[in-house]
Amino acid sequence: MTKADIGIYGLGTMGSALALNLAEKAFDVAVSNREAEWLAPFVEEAGGLAPRIHAHADLAEFISALKPPRLVLFMIPSGAPLDQMIASVAPLLDAGDTLIDAGNADFNDTRRRFKDLSQKGLHFVGMGVSGGEEGARHGPSLMIGGSAPSWKRLSPMVEAIAASYEGQPCAAHLGPDGAGHFVKTVHNGIEYADMQIIAEVYGLLRDGADWDAARIGRVFDRWNAGPLQSYLVEITAQVLAATDPETEVPAVDVIKDKAGQKGTGRWTVIEALKLGQSASGVEAAVGARGWSSDIALRDTASRVLEAGTSAQELPTLDDLERAFEAARILSHAQGFAVLQAASEAFEWDLDLARVAEIWRAGCIIRSALLDDLAEAIRTDPPHGALVLAPAISQRLNAAIPSLRRVVAAAVTDGLPAPAMSAVLSWYDSLRQARGTANVIQAQRDFFGRHGFERLDQPGAHHGPWADPEDPVS
Ligand code: 6PG
Repeated sequence: MTKADIGIYGLGTMGSALALNLAEKAFDVAVSNREAEWLAPFVEEAGGLAPRIHAHADLAEFISALKPPRLVLFMIPSGAPLDQMIASVAPLLDAGDTLIDAGNADFNDTRRRFKDLSQKGLHFVGMGVSGGEEGARHGPSLMIGGSAPSWKRLSPMVEAIAASYEGQPCAAHLGPDGAGHFVKTVHNGIEYADMQIIAEVYGLLRDGADWDAARIGRVFDRWNAGPLQSYLVEITAQVLAATDPETEVPAVDVIKDKAGQKGTGRWTVIEALKLGQSASGVEAAVGARGWSSDIALRDTASRVLEAGTSAQELPTLDDLERAFEAARILSHAQGFAVLQAASEAFEWDLDLARVAEIWRAGCIIRSALLDDLAEAIRTDPPHGALVLAPAISQRLNAAIPSLRRVVAAAVTDGLPAPAMSAVLSWYDSLRQARGTANVIQAQRDFFGRHGFERLDQPGAHHGPWADPEDPVS
């Protein structure tokens, strides 16, 4: 019997879609699943692709059905269930085989698994897969972290199934161990920020200008033909145009304003902070999703707490468009700064331009902007800061006045715009050659004798409020 090129364990939505995508590209795929009763219907529904799909309920048979050195891809929850599966599968493998985690994983777990398995002579790949079910089935963006030999074995498959942008596959080996999952985490963080900015723009038009969903949807539709072109803007236009068949009111108007989240946005913020970076746009988005859950509190607060202001005129649509553009550039720049910091901290040598390139198609944050960012990164901007690449700083300089007007209007009208204001403050902090951390240092020295550096002398010093004889702690 033909041995399969790859094994996929986990036939949920994403695992099934990846298996069919691989079979369509003429790879033989062995499949297995915890619920064995899913296997037969899956093969049956694969239609013309069924001959390339080989189902095995038994784990040992599934593993022995694979061509050596084996590739075993897991599409299951990346926490404890994956650790349990690795423990069951590892004894069935031979040195040189590769395990792949294609779920959204905490990259710290990926690094741990990579290290543990390499001690057993096994390769472990953390593969970020973006694009939802449609992407997985017909062309996702794939962010891969792992050893060079595992990439060599895997690359023909991932390059064949990935989305492509102007003929280039949106799949890349980004570095060892957790590099792929880290990049996917930051992708999701940017996704959170972008979705939040869109929701803020919607909120300003709904609550500040009293526009209905369909009218706002038409604005997003128009914007999707310009510099804001992106998958998220495109689907927002479609979402806002849809009608609820039961009530015949706009579909968004019957949806509770309570957002879910699975953790990747939060991971981005946590890792950014650990690296001394600020992903404030992502933090605003994660926070907004968090507090959206407390509907009862907000309902009461809406009657008790006043805006303390009278409504001002909203900025023009042109301002809103440019404000969105500036906020999007800034939240992407924050994401790339986090990636740069991680690359240095973990010695990954990430090719950030390549990251931007593989995000141009297939993934959820695909947009016209990413092509411009890839080009800007290749110009090697001063201090590695994307906002200082000439093409980007010029765009920001042109769009920032609009972002200011929109944030100012939101603040004066008492309408929330947490992501847009957070990235604007980040931008203003960056522009400040002399910041205000001198006061923070003075306070730290005052209460804790932590010492500070002076502008005019080398070494560590204390202020006149401390005992000058004491050594700097
Ligand atoms: C993607 C998505 C995908 C998924 C996220 C959404 O790139 O295809 O990011 O990974 O939609 O899990 O995350 P939340 O459920 O946290 O919004």
